[in-house]
Amino acid sequence: MTRTSQFSGFYKISVGERRSLVCDATGIEPQDIERTLEGGGLDADTADKFVENVLGTYALPYGVALNVRVNGVDRVVPMVVEEPSVVAAASNASKMVRSGGGFLAEVDDPLMISQIQIFNVLDRDSARDAILAHKNELLLAADRAVPGLVVRGGGARDLEVRLLGTPEDRMLVVHVLVDCRDAMGANLINSVAEALADRVALLARGKVGLRILSNLCDRRRVRVRCRVPAQVLATETMSGEEVIDGIVNASRFAELDPYRATTHNKGLMNGVDAVVLATGNDWRAVEAGAHAYAARNGQYGPLSIWRRDGSFLLGTLEMPLSLGTVGGTLRVHPGARLSLRMAAIESAQELAMAAAAVGLASNLAALRALASDGIQRGHMALHARSVAVAAGATKDLVERVAQLIVEARDITLEAARRALDVLESRADSAASLED
Ligand code: HMG
Repeated sequence: MTRTSQFSGFYKISVGERRSLVCDATGIEPQDIERTLEGGGLDADTADKFVENVLGTYALPYGVALNVRVNGVDRVVPMVVEEPSVVAAASNASKMVRSGGGFLAEVDDPLMISQIQIFNVLDRDSARDAILAHKNELLLAADRAVPGLVVRGGGARDLEVRLLGTPEDRMLVVHVLVDCRDAMGANLINSVAEALADRVALLARGKVGLRILSNLCDRRRVRVRCRVPAQVLATETMSGEEVIDGIVNASRFAELDPYRATTHNKGLMNGVDAVVLATGNDWRAVEAGAHAYAARNGQYGPLSIWRRDGSFLLGTLEMPLSLGTVGGTLRVHPGARLSLRMAAIESAQELAMAAAAVGLASNLAALRALASDGIQRGHMALHARSVAVAAGATKDLVERVAQLIVEARDITLEAARRALDVLESRADSAASLED
């Protein structure tokens, strides 16, 4: 088996042929893909154990980002997403990044924050001193609350006290920093908060408030960068150097304007979220953390920055990312397990780096399109296929209707219906001539 993520023309072959290429490159058995993905990755009985009031399951397209190389390792990265052109865009930009050596990524230890709110604290300074004086005792109690995690090499690492608002608010919060290893960590962190709260309140001479994790997991950040040669960025109408200037200009726009930064980050999260979904992780937690981090300096800003370095484009992304490869949904979701095998992911940290790399790729593809031809050309060309399906086209008529409306530069439902009528009436007349 040669592990690669580069299959040129992958999108032009059939679903069956794609599956067999991916199996050859990842060592997954073809029947594993068929059995798992034909059922949407999850059967109704298993789904019934996940959430409440289950009636069935709800499928989304499962694609793969190609050409992804992170720290020298090729990964076929599964993406679950409903939006046309997102998977193509991530594969397209990863191909460009690959020609500059691929993505370089690093990740913090998987530290999550457990918050214990204490209120009605009359003397906050004394409360803080008392809590900090008992730090070791509290960290040991935290470890006792999560023995399985400690066995796996994780556990409580540190404790901090933050005084909130003014003395009149009489409120403080204790942060316990817990290394979650390969878990996303929500349940572990909540157990720690609940186990320590009474003792902390006693030390602070206050009352216990909330005991819950923080989704602003800014101690669990991932950083990805790439260096793309100008020549691979060139389009039909612009040189690579012009595209670099356009992308740097787009980055500056996002750095200066929260309205633009929001859309910039949406494009980046196209990639991150699709990987988070494909691997059975909590995308609400990831989204909440990403956007809070983007606003950490008081103004909402972009999670990625693009700059010129001679004849290269440099991209950097930094964001908090709490992903798991064990526990929770992952243990029992066949689709999520398949995704981890497909991308050869062995730890939560590897998963965070792969998801962030696909995020940076998605961002690059969108910015390159925006800085050159505009987003509609590539995006709408792919969107045309779903418009054709919505107009009633089936089988090979889907591609033909899509092609006609793209050529007519009129990617609307009405245009697709007209194109379908024309193609169907041509087929009818051909059939009657044969009769
Ligand atoms: P193209 O120039 O026609 O591509 O791009 P190409 O023919 O040169 O192919 C290059 C590679 O792209 C291929 O490599 C594939 O990997 C991939 P090859 O196989 O040839 O070795 N590729 C495809 N993969 C799957 N299906 C396809 C396909 N076509 C190419 N059909 C493309 C076409 C759409 C990729 C390009 O125009 C593009 O990247 N556009 C950006 C699209 C995009 O960003 N979409 C996201 C939705 S828009 C949005 O939500 C976010 C936004 O608001 C964010 C923001 O404002 O920042 C825009």
